[in-house]
Amino acid sequence: MKILTAPSLFASDLLEIGSQVRRAQDSGADILHFDIMDGVYVPNISIGFDILKAVRGCTNLPIDAHMMTVCPEKYFERLAEYGADIVTIHNDIADTEKIRVMLTDIRSYGMMSAIALKPAVDAEAVLPFLDLVDMILVMTVEPGFSGQAFMDMSDKIREIKKHIGSEPISIAVDGGIKPNTAALCAAAGANVFVAGSGAFGAPSMQAALEDIRIAAQGAYIG
Ligand code: DX5
Ligand code: ZN
Repeated sequence: MKILTAPSLFASDLLEIGSQVRRAQDSGADILHFDIMDGVYVPNISIGFDILKAVRGCTNLPIDAHMMTVCPEKYFERLAEYGADIVTIHNDIADTEKIRVMLTDIRSYGMMSAIALKPAVDAEAVLPFLDLVDMILVMTVEPGFSGQAFMDMSDKIREIKKHIGSEPISIAVDGGIKPNTAALCAAAGANVFVAGSGAFGAPSMQAALEDIRIAAQGAYIG
C-alpha cells in the first residue's frame, strides 16, 4: 500500500484555518484529517460541519472525517454533501450489525469507509468489517486531544495486517505520530500517518511530512 500523510487540522492554529489548510496542501499532504467530536464519545468538542464545508471550499485534498461521536449515522448525508471523501467511525459505538449497516451507508453515499479502534480494543474487532472498509484506523492515543504521548500499538497493527491479508485495506495510525513513531508503526504494517502536532506544530510542515514519509517508507513491511 502507498505511504500517505494526513495532517490533522484540529491541531492547527484554528484562527487561521484557511491558511493552515493551504499550508497542509502546499506541504505535500495526501489527506486532510478532520476530527469531529461530540463531547459524549470523547470528553471534548472539536470542529464541525460548517467548518468542514468551508474547508472543502478551499482545498482539493481528500478529507477524512474522523467521527468521534456516538451516532455518526445521523450525519452521513451531510458529510457527503459537505465534501468528506472518507468517513471513519469507531467500532464500539454500536453492535456489529449496526456498524455493518453504517459502513454500507457510508459507501452508498460514494464515500470511503473506515473503522477506528481505541487503544484498548483488540485487533479481532476488525474481523466482522473487512468486507466493508477501505481503511482501519488504529488510535495510538486515547481519542479526544492533540499533543498526547504516543502509545505503541505495533502488536495490534501486526495482527490487523495478518487479518487483512492481501485485501487492499490501508492501516492508519493517529496520535503522537512523528518520524520515529511512524517508523515503528510502518514496520508493523501501517501506511497512513495522521499527524496533528507533528505536522502543524513543526516549523516546516513540508519537512515534517517528508521526514515522516521517509521514515515510514524505510521501515514499511509492504
Ligand atoms: C485525537 C485526534 C487526532 C489528533 C492527533 O483524538 O483523533 O487526530 O488531532 O494529534 P497529535 O498528532 O498531536 O497526537
Ligand atoms: Zn483523529
